[in-house]
Amino acid sequence: MRLYPAGSFLVREAREDTQLGRGLVAPKGAYLTLATHALHHDPRLWPQPEAFRPERFMAHGAAAGGGGGQEAEEEQGGGGEGGGGLLGPRHPAAWAAFGMGARMCVGYKLALMVSKATLASLLRRFVFHLHPQQQLPLRTRTGLTYGPAEGVWLAVSKRDLTT
Ligand code: HEM
Repeated sequence: MRLYPAGSFLVREAREDTQLGRGLVAPKGAYLTLATHALHHDPRLWPQPEAFRPERFMAHGAAAGGGGGQEAEEEQGGGGEGGGGLLGPRHPAAWAAFGMGARMCVGYKLALMVSKATLASLLRRFVFHLHPQQQLPLRTRTGLTYGPAEGVWLAVSKRDLTT
């Protein structure tokens, strides 16, 4: 949801003339668009922005202690702001997959709960690999929502539950 946020943009209307900083003013009535994908890939907010590192979202201690490999070891020095160790977001508003503020998605808790339950149920029974037919980087399309242009090719096999 960070690398491929389904909501491609958020829109707000300025209720009054609004200072945006650096001398920019949004006049009353102007529509402001926040490009969620750009926000989620901004290297000032996300170290190694293109890397899929879910531990970014873990509490600081857990992120620093978990996993393995060189990158995880580099994180052990700590020093990151907020959760996720050195790879964690650098600002509380750096992640906006469900929007933010008063008009944030009303269904986000349900959506997260259903997504986690579905993933856990599938991963318990099956093993997923990227199919060799899948070309990378993934081709995406942006419309009202953002997603893969031609689906994603996966190879799925039954998990061996006897071991
Ligand atoms: C993965 C699933 C979902 C994603 C990624 C998602 C994302 C979003 C985003 C980005 C917004 C705009 C928020 C903003 O402008 O700040 C939004 C608004 C909204 N979402 Fe979701 N949503 C999801 C699931 C759901 C579900 C399950 C429901 C209802 C049960 C729901 C109901 C709504 C409603 C009613 C709004 C409008 C809120 C308002 O304008 O006050 N969404 N959603």
